[in-house]
Amino acid sequence: MAHKGFFNAFQDVWMLAGVRTPMVDYCGALGHISPTDLGIKVARETLARHGVNPADIGSVITGNMAPGDFDQFVLPRHIGLYAGVPQDVPAIMAQRICGTGFELFRQAGEQIEAGVCDAALVVGTESMTRNPIAAFDHRSGFKLGAPVGFKDFMWEALKDPAAGVNMIQTAENLARQYGISRQEVDQFASDSFAKAVAAQEAGFFDEEIVPVVSEIFELDGYRPRGIKLQGKATSVEHDTHPRLSPVEVLAKLKPVYEGGVQTGGNSSALVDAAAACIVTSGDYAKAQGKKPAARVVAAAAVGVPPEIMGIGPAPAIRLLLERTGLRLDDIGCFEINEAQGAQTLAVGRELGLDLARLNVNGGAIALGHPLAATGVRLTLTLARELRRRSLRWGISSACVGGGQGIALLIENPDAA
Ligand SMILES: CC(C)(COP(=O)(O)OP(=O)(O)OC[C@H]1O[C@@H](n2cnc3c(N)ncnc32)[C@H](O)[C@@H]1OP(=O)(O)O)[C@@H](O)C(=O)NCCC(=O)NCCS
Repeated sequence: MAHKGFFNAFQDVWMLAGVRTPMVDYCGALGHISPTDLGIKVARETLARHGVNPADIGSVITGNMAPGDFDQFVLPRHIGLYAGVPQDVPAIMAQRICGTGFELFRQAGEQIEAGVCDAALVVGTESMTRNPIAAFDHRSGFKLGAPVGFKDFMWEALKDPAAGVNMIQTAENLARQYGISRQEVDQFASDSFAKAVAAQEAGFFDEEIVPVVSEIFELDGYRPRGIKLQGKATSVEHDTHPRLSPVEVLAKLKPVYEGGVQTGGNSSALVDAAAACIVTSGDYAKAQGKKPAARVVAAAAVGVPPEIMGIGPAPAIRLLLERTGLRLDDIGCFEINEAQGAQTLAVGRELGLDLARLNVNGGAIALGHPLAATGVRLTLTLARELRRRSLRWGISSACVGGGQGIALLIENPDAA
């Protein structure tokens, strides 16, 4: 039976190129920078580095989950304007929580195939640090003795009130359902750290990272804005979370929930980061003489039960394969977001995935998960890895809180 959900096949949609900031542990060197400025930084850099004229961009598609400043409403617009995109080009914010970055490609693909634009700027940006401490009940004042409602937005947002669980508990549900042990989750996490450290030492990420420095973003006729690093730092260049984490060390960490398998060491790290890509039609790429990084072949998005939201990538990937006629074995590399170790292992088990082809440069447990930036980062890394290994097909995917999964199929043009 055909799986239900969204499926888009794209005939002639290409990822030209992209860049990202380093992914820095929250409350670290990027913690005081608004997601808008991180987004402007990667947008400007990807256009400049890959020689794309901002005047050619016909659509700005951005993602950001946590409001990181009071100007968050205008984040998409400001990223476009301060990146030099013409004033008459519209900008939008898309939201599919942890799947947002993939959704940006899906929307760009739809727009390009529909002839709405030839080139779209997609930008996912997230400051986990600047999640607000928020209250929703105080507009009309504080009654004497009534509870004061300020709460940590990040902690609260990681709960799904419908299912009455938070995201870690959804992974615990999957661990029970698929018989996944703490030992297996720690081993998976330890491997993720080892792969990320190896990739870092080999310089694999250097090409996709743009160092964050103090700078001013000018915009003719409007107020300048910018980034000012704090303290003595002059440049922030590396992902900060990867460190060798032997399984014996991880085994000593306290589980988030008594008797559970998830700990601070085998769950996705909380980091600040942004990532941007340019997505275009084939005609545009050809006319500009650009060699694209990947073809964006298809996208799938599905719903799953909220209490096991982490299984989402499994039906999303199944739908992609079913509709494109590819087999799991045809896919050379997978980048599946490691929201929680048990969650990714459950997806692997459900699909019968060869773990040797999964997250070969480490995943979010080691590198971090900046929610709306994740899908852009994973797809960019995947495109580069397919090229490096001369593999043809790759799938990037993530689970989504509330119970969804989203997946993108990309193709290495050199191996087509
Ligand atoms: C799991 C989670 C709650 C842990 O948060 P936390 O308690 O602030 O985590 P910490 O980074 O402080 O780690 C807890 C402890 O483990 C230690 N630790 C973490 N990673 C480690 C590693 N790789 N090696 C050794 N120790 C490690 C920390 O040093 C800390 O030790 P301490 O308590 O002695 O200070 C949080 O990371 C989380 O919610 N992650 C998932 C986010 C998520 O679900 N996103 C959305 C997906 S849908």
